Amino acid sequence: MDIERLRRALPQRRIEYYEVVDSTMRAASGLETGSVVLAGEQTAGQGRHGHAWHSEVGSGIYCSLVLQPAPLLTLALGLATAHAIASVTGAACDLRWPNDIMLGERKVAGILVQLVQGAAIAGIGINVNHTSFPAALEAEATSLRLHTGRTWPREELLLALLPAVEMFTRLDAPDILRLFQQASSYAAGRRVQVSQQDGVLEGVTAGLDSAGYLVVRRDDGTDTLIVAGGVRAAGAGCGQ
Ligand code: BTN
Repeated sequence: MDIERLRRALPQRRIEYYEVVDSTMRAASGLETGSVVLAGEQTAGQGRHGHAWHSEVGSGIYCSLVLQPAPLLTLALGLATAHAIASVTGAACDLRWPNDIMLGERKVAGILVQLVQGAAIAGIGINVNHTSFPAALEAEATSLRLHTGRTWPREELLLALLPAVEMFTRLDAPDILRLFQQASSYAAGRRVQVSQQDGVLEGVTAGLDSAGYLVVRRDDGTDTLIVAGGVRAAGAGCGQ
């Protein structure tokens, strides 16, 4: 990764780069707002819901940004990531609520936001040049390379991603909700299953409420507000 190119292009940013780090989430904790932490490899990459994030050396973008907490931040980050991918590669991503970035039915990027000492640490992982995944992920994950048939320079993606994060996180809440619902086939009219503590809920999505939570309408007509993810297209398995 050509970090000096990134630093030249974004001179106002503190950009830290680790060849190997446990997790950029930990490395970004405590840095000033606006800082960016990147890694070539993570040995303990963190995913949502306590899952690990597969962080193969040299193949992906492993990035944490220090941001101000804001309403709908995770939705805005998903929009930014999809926008950056489309602008560099031309690939049109879907957004699986709340913030899985999908190509077809497979996940190409994920977002994890943690609140630490009053800051929002926004972790973005993008599968860029992976040619394969571990067996447990291969049915669920893809990379830009697998999807488009060519490799992509990670610097180009980062040079699109960082301004896109700035742009989408500045939007007000109604605009974020509107854009998300336009960009996501999961927001409304999609039959889904949602893993919950007491079992699996199945129904059809019926939009987002003003806080960005997903409404799922069961077949008996009752609505449930989903606040914590775990959404899958009905019939799909589980993975990264
Ligand atoms: C998810 O489960 O979908 C969220 C994945 C987030 C992965 C990124 S990679 C950069 C940052 N560092 C981590 O340890 N996790 C996030």
